[in-house]
Amino acid sequence: MSDVLKILQKDELSKNDLVQLLATQGEAMQDLFHYAQNVKAQHVGNKVYFRGLIELSNRCKKNCYYCGIRSGNPNIHRYFVDEQEVLDAVKYAYEKGFGSIVLQSGERNDKDFTETIESLLKKIMKLTNNEIGITLSLGEQDEETYLRWREAGAKRYLLRIEASNRELYAKLHPQDHDFDKRLNCLKLLRKLDYQVGTGVMIGLPFQTLGDLADDLLFFKELDIDMCGMGPYIEHEETPLYQFRNLLLSKEERFLLSLKMVALLRILMKNVNIAATTAMQTLDSQGREKALRVGSNVIMPNLTPLKYRDDYLLYEDKPSQSETADETVRLLEEHIRAAGCEVAYFQHGDSQHYFSRKNKNVQ
Ligand code: 5AD
Ligand code: SF4
Repeated sequence: MSDVLKILQKDELSKNDLVQLLATQGEAMQDLFHYAQNVKAQHVGNKVYFRGLIELSNRCKKNCYYCGIRSGNPNIHRYFVDEQEVLDAVKYAYEKGFGSIVLQSGERNDKDFTETIESLLKKIMKLTNNEIGITLSLGEQDEETYLRWREAGAKRYLLRIEASNRELYAKLHPQDHDFDKRLNCLKLLRKLDYQVGTGVMIGLPFQTLGDLADDLLFFKELDIDMCGMGPYIEHEETPLYQFRNLLLSKEERFLLSLKMVALLRILMKNVNIAATTAMQTLDSQGREKALRVGSNVIMPNLTPLKYRDDYLLYEDKPSQSETADETVRLLEEHIRAAGCEVAYFQHGDSQHYFSRKNKNVQ
């Protein structure tokens, strides 16, 4: 039996085990991928769920050192998608049988923003006969806001921890960005009965394999329902760009991301894992490869084309001028090539969410 299989057959993987698995190359790495593929087949099958992604606005009060739409970048045009355009995109998703949509934007906490979102949620629910699943990815908010949005129809929330090591988090964010506040938001979301998702960036400057192993253990400890993670990709107009000489090559960052997806599938068998756009940015077949080793969710971009170039979190973001129809057609091809199948007209909720809730009832 190969060393990789010996490690994988343990009942519980330690940090040291995870570091060894993250360091695999060549055949050993392929063993890891095959193992993850089997776990995926057994526990979540080959269905892929679409979430139509709408990048609502690039206005953001935060100033993360890695992100192209940070408030300190003066060179972008700031937008908020018109309400009717959002509803048109939702209608498209609904009629095509996407079970869910994701509303994402930069972070704002002002009343105008929180009320706009609440009213939008109600309109979306009405438009779709309360049928479409809504995921929000709108940053840190207070409990009342999360509650209002939950009551208005959102049932899932993505809030990436970005880096679960506090010291690394502090190197990636200005001093007023508070790791504990973010952690507390994740706990609040769980308390308010959202399906909770988080994630990290992979291949960041200063990040070690030990940090990534800890990220995986952090997901497990937090008992998350969903995960979106992908490679860090540099952006010239951000402070972190000065450390680009510390980065792994794009290929290495991609493979490391793939190993993270495979390991998370092995560690948390029934969570939803997104095949992220950042993975596709570094490898044109990135999402397909992620589906093979563990992912089961894809977020086709439904943001109206005229806004897309203003939502550049990182360089070379792909498919910026692709219409929704083209995106869906290409994705379907790639998904089939990965031996998977799109599950239309289904919410694709996280199975983990239901299993943890049933556990709590008993
Ligand atoms: N590279 C990769 N991902 C990034 N994000 C922001 N900037 C970058 C970057 N340069 C991710 C963050 C954030 C999500 C919306 O986009 O993880 O949570
Ligand atoms: Fe704003 Fe999110 Fe970018 Fe940070 S990562 S600057 S919170 S959009």
